[in-house]
Amino acid sequence: MAQYARSSAVAVIRLCNPPLNALSLAVLQALEDGLKKADADPSVKAVMICGENRKFSAGADIRGFSSPKRHEGALGPIVSLIESSEKPVVAAIEGVALGGGLEVALGCHYRIAHVKAQMGLPEVTIGLLPGAEGTQRLPRLIGLPAALDMITTGKHIPATEALKLGLVDEIVEENTIEAAIRLANKVIGQPLGPRRLSLKPIPRLPNMEAFLREALVKVKKQARGCLAPELCFQAVRAAAERPFAEGVRRERELFQVLLTSGQARALQYAFFAERAVRRWDTPSGASWSSAAPQPVRKAAVIGLGTMGRGIVTSLVKANIPLVALEQDLEYLNKGRKAVMLLLEREAMKMERGAQALDFHNPARLQFTVDFDLLHDVDLVIEAVFENMALKKEIFHKLSKICKPGALLCTNTSALNIDEIASATSCPQQVIGTHFFSPAHVMRLLEIIYGRHTSPTAIATAMQLAKALKKVGVVVGNCFGFVGNRMMFPYVQQAVFLLEEGSRPEAVDQVLEDFGFKLGPFRMSDLAGLDVGWRSRKDQGLTGPSLPAGTPARQRQGQRYSPLPDLLCEQGRFGQKTGKGWYQYERAGGRTATPDPWLHSFLSHYRDTHHIKTRFIDQEEILERCLFSLINEGFAILAEGIASGPEHLDVIYINGYGWPKHRGGPMFYASTVGLPRVLAKLQKYSEVHPDVPGLRPSAFLKKLVAAGNPPIKEWMSYLSQQSSKL
Ligand code: 3HC
Ligand code: NAI
Repeated sequence: MAQYARSSAVAVIRLCNPPLNALSLAVLQALEDGLKKADADPSVKAVMICGENRKFSAGADIRGFSSPKRHEGALGPIVSLIESSEKPVVAAIEGVALGGGLEVALGCHYRIAHVKAQMGLPEVTIGLLPGAEGTQRLPRLIGLPAALDMITTGKHIPATEALKLGLVDEIVEENTIEAAIRLANKVIGQPLGPRRLSLKPIPRLPNMEAFLREALVKVKKQARGCLAPELCFQAVRAAAERPFAEGVRRERELFQVLLTSGQARALQYAFFAERAVRRWDTPSGASWSSAAPQPVRKAAVIGLGTMGRGIVTSLVKANIPLVALEQDLEYLNKGRKAVMLLLEREAMKMERGAQALDFHNPARLQFTVDFDLLHDVDLVIEAVFENMALKKEIFHKLSKICKPGALLCTNTSALNIDEIASATSCPQQVIGTHFFSPAHVMRLLEIIYGRHTSPTAIATAMQLAKALKKVGVVVGNCFGFVGNRMMFPYVQQAVFLLEEGSRPEAVDQVLEDFGFKLGPFRMSDLAGLDVGWRSRKDQGLTGPSLPAGTPARQRQGQRYSPLPDLLCEQGRFGQKTGKGWYQYERAGGRTATPDPWLHSFLSHYRDTHHIKTRFIDQEEILERCLFSLINEGFAILAEGIASGPEHLDVIYINGYGWPKHRGGPMFYASTVGLPRVLAKLQKYSEVHPDVPGLRPSAFLKKLVAAGNPPIKEWMSYLSQQSSKL
């Protein structure tokens, strides 16, 4: 809806569709009616458009793109109607003006914004392009380079930057609406021609052709298989090369291509999935709607290694006073230096510089080796070595030292939260907070509740995720939780493929072409092969505790590949040692090149174990890696470890580099079709009967038998009875 009111000679049209005034069909209709009414009323001399609740508009209603009553073509003509008005129209931008919201403002003759407002054309992030003439108007207003940047990245810009770019005419610190009405009154009677963006030429660049050529290369490189950025580019290029009306036609054509591409559906699913996981619940009935978080006024981090450093940085950025603790002074000094370096870098990236990050003040960030200093913190995040005995010792100490009610979090990658909690006198306050490396960059926070974890603890961890600007996903307790548990069969298949005849670079290429940032071997070299090696030794899968006579390629009757262990025994830990699945220019180097040593090592290994080398095609590589990961996902859902496929998808997109335009692994499975996923798993499982990861999960079979229902219905097939699957 939109409300129509008057402020003397100025008609006020207020977009109303809480919470963010998305432009639904009803809002568009009301906006059009308001404009026509103002036009028809001779006593109205100017128009002001604003939004309810101090929010201009977050753009077209995204749900509308997949509804039968699609409305994507409706906004462009309304923006034209605004621009062609004979009475000046002023946009009063508060909160957000995004997508179609900003396009409405671009149709207005003047734009005035609150200093805290954010603007942008984020359509690219949901697989679309600005389809209400925004690709044609924005470059005319702020020039091609800035417009192209905004449209192809979808970034939001603050009002101060918008003013510098000329996107808004004025910014105000308060009373935006009054200021806009004042401006509207002031410009009554002034010529509107120069204010109509469709009539303006694009500011020329001396080297337009070269600029466009280079920009396209950059856009393609960043897109990694995602269509929208390149089509955004093409629409903006049309603005540079064609008259306005032709550019608009091109924009519409390209918009339709995207709308029907499948990628837009996946990206919009991802948008709503990220919001759905905020409404967490657990099988025991705890839920976001009834649990309230505790305030976190002061926190502590234990262990300043790879993860602890990033976690400290994240907390400081969120303005949470902090104690950082190490085991001895030597480690403390090393950790402190590393943290300071990270914080200096972050401060440089931040708008207001180092002052905004108050990390030199010991009252805000204190380094210590003294556990007693943790007596008054509200929350502790433990990030010491992945060793159960050590973690239990630390949690035992914490439950004695910390004040009652303090939340005790562990950053374990896979260990049992209940066992860690058993070392304390307050298991209800123990929770897993699994950050991803680098912890100050990666958006995912996997939040793991144990048997005794209280709803308050979960709510507090979710609140922490929000404060750290991360996506918190609540999951149950099992080995590897959701993310790493699904990763195990994926990596296992990748290694088996090497045994059978493939090479690391071939496997990586297939998965990177699919859209992963890094294939499994490049990823493993980056993370360090020693991490998994240590864990396998702890599990008795390799190393001195392995019983004599265990077959090299079998563990408990299942296929096992000792390849990663053999590499570690050679000191090949990946990037950190300069050699792993690839070779690097030096220890710590980042440029992976195929390693002839590894190739001959693999042939020798196959000869030793009498494995016949065969050619493995791309389809098999992709399916064995991805379908085994997806299969584990179905098992996780059936066990109630996650409350829906969105959880798994959000985890994979934000923590494991899964290409967002493919919607996450479970969404991807739904697009491939569950019958096909099942048939392929059955086929591979017959060939490899000793690989449980390829044996189709009972839940997958059940969904196929139920006729391949849409993803949003999957969970309804898990009845009480079948949850024992
Ligand atoms: N359409 C439909 N619903 C929307 C919406 C939109 N454009 N924008 C937000 N919402 C919904 C959210 O789903 C959420 O619903 P819920 O409470 O039921 O989960 C509610 O509004 C509140 O939003 P958030 O939880 O996302 O609030 P935040 O404060 O975290 O974020 C935001 C605010 C940054 C504005 C974020 O909502 C956002 O990015 N929105 C989408 C902006 C966008 O992509 N606009 C372009 C739309 S496409 C378009 O305009 C096409 C045009 O060119 C023709
Ligand atoms: P790390 O080896 O880099 O750092 C661990 C730190 O803990 C060291 O600085 C060590 O001195 C300190 N420490 C050990 N005992 C201590 C004690 N008693 N008191 C205080 N500090 C102590 O390890 P990393 O990689 O940071 O891992 C930490 C935890 O995070 C592990 O549980 C790991 O599984 C998990 N994790 C690691 C990820 C990674 O990519 N490295 C990703 C996600 C989780």
